Amino acid sequence: MIDRSAIVDYWDAAAPSFDDAPDHGLRAERTRAAWARTIGAWMPPAPAAVLDVGCGTGSLSLLLAAAGHRVTGVDLAPRMIEEAGRKAAAAGLSGRFLVGDAAGPPTGGELFDVVLARHLLWTLPDPGAALGAWVARLRPGGRLLLVEGRWGEAGQSGPPYVAGAESLPWSGGVGADQLAAAVRPLVAGLRIERLGADADLWGGPVHDERYALIARV
Ligand SMILES: C[S@@+](CC[C@H](N)C(=O)[O-])C[C@H]1O[C@@H](n2cnc3c(N)ncnc32)[C@H](O)[C@@H]1O
Repeated sequence: MIDRSAIVDYWDAAAPSFDDAPDHGLRAERTRAAWARTIGAWMPPAPAAVLDVGCGTGSLSLLLAAAGHRVTGVDLAPRMIEEAGRKAAAAGLSGRFLVGDAAGPPTGGELFDVVLARHLLWTLPDPGAALGAWVARLRPGGRLLLVEGRWGEAGQSGPPYVAGAESLPWSGGVGADQLAAAVRPLVAGLRIERLGADADLWGGPVHDERYALIARV
């Protein structure tokens, strides 16, 4: 069993430098444009109501806000949420950023057109329950957008994750086939889009598995 406060502490400590990674901060115009183009193709017309779970510093939330969507970001780590709010204010964008658990977002009975999660499932103690909770937050016809992978790039080290993380169900990431099998019973249809070959998304070439699962309810 992983101590939840250890997870919060880890991500709070990571928050100030989180955006230094090219695909986190989207600081390079090339990277930003690649994500805007890629996610934009999965989105319904603006303004859609979007719930970005495990939003981190809000980079994707703000990309969608800039495209005219109404975005709510939820993250367990208060310092991630502070960063997201600060970035929204600096960019003159509106977005609602809430501290909370992605498995039970603090948004009451509100329904969304899109639930987005990027690089979150690997750290959840019960990813299956979270998937069910996200689908339940979608309006009929809504979309679930999951950007995931199995992390294995050489040179990706950084500080070790919290004690006991190796027992997480999807520790190290989840492959597309496994995630599709988990999501398929919950949705009307889904497709997988491979993202590994588009170096612009990652700030350089990558060799591990990276993809998006796009589902409709
Ligand atoms: C790898 S980062 C991804 C951040 C963001 N989605 C992105 O792609 O830039 C994982 C994020 O999930 C958050 N997180 C971890 N467990 C969470 C949970 N149970 N509920 C909400 N957020 C969580 C962390 O605080 C961190 O910000």
